[in-house]
Amino acid sequence: MPDERRTFVEPIVVLTGSGVSAESGVPTFRGEGGLWESYRAHDLATPAAFRSDPELVWRFYAWRRQLVRGCKPNRGHAVLAEIERHSQQFTMITQNIDGLHQRAGSQQLIEIHGSLWRLRCPQCGQRWRDLAVPFEQLPPHCPECDSIARPDVVWFGEALDPKLLETSMEAAGRAGTFLVVGTSGLVHPAAGLPLLAKRAGAHLIEFNLEETPLTARADEVWQGPASSQLTAWWTEATSGGKPT
Ligand code: OAD
Repeated sequence: MPDERRTFVEPIVVLTGSGVSAESGVPTFRGEGGLWESYRAHDLATPAAFRSDPELVWRFYAWRRQLVRGCKPNRGHAVLAEIERHSQQFTMITQNIDGLHQRAGSQQLIEIHGSLWRLRCPQCGQRWRDLAVPFEQLPPHCPECDSIARPDVVWFGEALDPKLLETSMEAAGRAGTFLVVGTSGLVHPAAGLPLLAKRAGAHLIEFNLEETPLTARADEVWQGPASSQLTAWWTEATSGGKPT
């Protein structure tokens, strides 16, 4: 596609949240039908919950793996992968742990909250990929030292991987265009990335069904389902439409 028809400035940096996977059938966390409406985050997604009942925590994550295994990436994931293929400078940061961006073909991806499809040993630090659904036994054990393994995800009260956070902040600080897609913008530090980008001069575009704390700070707001809104923005941005 000819460059002169492009109306956005690179690097493009994207932050996604659970809203991008909602149209695939993966529940979001907050709002109607959100996971935290039916389950208490503190019983299932904290280090203390895991220490007191690892099997209960694992049942929750095993159920989520099973649910996601039955879902397919949607048009929103596909458009984001297409934007990456057609960009020289692109970084996507996702708060999602479902792996749907990779299944849609995204490659430059920072999984800032970890992955449902990786396990980690809290004792020896071993990390490994595991796609089994269902597990042979719960809780799963470390293949090296046989301790009880945990999902390689970030729980409430835990710090993000400092390297991933630093890379994400650097990317946000260099962004020409920052797309924030399907996130309530309530969970920090990820929620701070769009504003960091904006302060550094990026054009901030929000895609969401609803208003969020970021809406008032965005330069453009595409309200509606991420799949159709991303498609519409990408079509406009690559066809010499109004400059962003
Ligand atoms: P939330 O559940 O907080 O927010 C989902 C957002 O997606 C809301 O703003 C919805 O309006 C929007 N949304 C829903 N469906 C959409 C659609 N089809 N198109 C566009 N937008 C849509 O989820 P996150 O912001 O991802 O963290 O939550 C952030 C973090 O809080 C998660 O990574 C998780 C959670 O607790 C940890 O587990 C550490």
